[in-house]
Amino acid sequence: MAKRSGTVGFSKYRKHPAALSVILFLGLIVTSGVYTLGANAANEYARSSVDAAAIMNDPASIDAGKRLFATGCATCHGLNAQGNSDGPTLIGVGAASVHFQVSSGRMPMASPGAQVMRKKPQYTEEQTLQLAAYVASLSPGPEIPTAAQLNWAGADLAEGAELFRANCAQCHSFSGRGGALTEGKYAPSLMIATPQQIYEAMITGPQAMPIFNDQTLNLEEKHGIIAYIEYLKDSPNPGGFELGRYGPVTEGLFLWTIGMGALLMVAIWIGVKAK
Ligand code: HEC
Ligand code: HEC
Repeated sequence: MAKRSGTVGFSKYRKHPAALSVILFLGLIVTSGVYTLGANAANEYARSSVDAAAIMNDPASIDAGKRLFATGCATCHGLNAQGNSDGPTLIGVGAASVHFQVSSGRMPMASPGAQVMRKKPQYTEEQTLQLAAYVASLSPGPEIPTAAQLNWAGADLAEGAELFRANCAQCHSFSGRGGALTEGKYAPSLMIATPQQIYEAMITGPQAMPIFNDQTLNLEEKHGIIAYIEYLKDSPNPGGFELGRYGPVTEGLFLWTIGMGALLMVAIWIGVKAK
């Protein structure tokens, strides 16, 4: 009974002369809203790293980092990060290397093996930055990327794709899903690395990975590569159904067209039923 009266109630509105325009208007809002959301996602990460600079230069944070280091890292890296038989020196590796290693859960290392594994991070973002501040205070090295360095909105996706194929694909594969290297080592999948970790991996070159400093790949080129990896993350089935890899703008337009098409069908259906 309830269902029936619901239908009656709806058809009352369906016949209203304004119904078509209202639906079209709502449809426009929804589809353009979805598109804008996608376009703004690129700036999300830039915002999350705003206070990194403050922590880097704060003596209290450096002190907190020193204490965390003494309990969690010194057994392998030495009390003053000078290194010992269980771990290399960290003098000069820079804040970016510490942030990359600790935020990806590689450090503190759990067990020796062919390769340090990515795992669940053991420290909060704030503690990670404190550790980074401490190590950076010993000797300068590659710094944590700034919000501006991580803002790749407007990057050239086509150029990024080309640079990725030329510089990264031989180890991480064309789809970014990773691949085997020699001696039991491997280049991991890039699908869970955050844009900040991608940037930090490029400027610090962990393990067998080469360093891509600003002479090798300038800021714009790094942005292109980050944009392309983010794009790869969004294409779940490389080689399957996708829009010829033309990028987010095309996909947004595609979504918009499909959304509008579907709503037009609904509008026409309502119009026909109303007669
Ligand atoms: C069980 C021993 C162990 C512990 C504990 C450990 N590390 Fe390491 N760490 C290593 C080894 C071994 C390497 C070299 C791994 C490799 O082959 O890249 C390393 C590498 C690193 C690197 C990369 C250095 C470079 O050249 O870029 C950083 C940064 C680092 N560790 C930071 C830390 C921090 C911070 C902690 C504490 C939270 C920590 N480690 C705890 C053993 C350890
Ligand atoms: C010679 C092989 C090689 C090349 C070329 C290379 N990488 Fe790597 N990459 C590695 C290896 C090996 C690791 C794992 C390091 C570790 O576990 O400490 C790695 C790790 C990474 C990670 C960390 C992934 C994660 O989720 O933890 C990122 C991000 C990354 N590489 C990005 C890149 C980008 C971008 C390029 C091109 C500009 C590139 N790599 C080129 C070998 C390579």
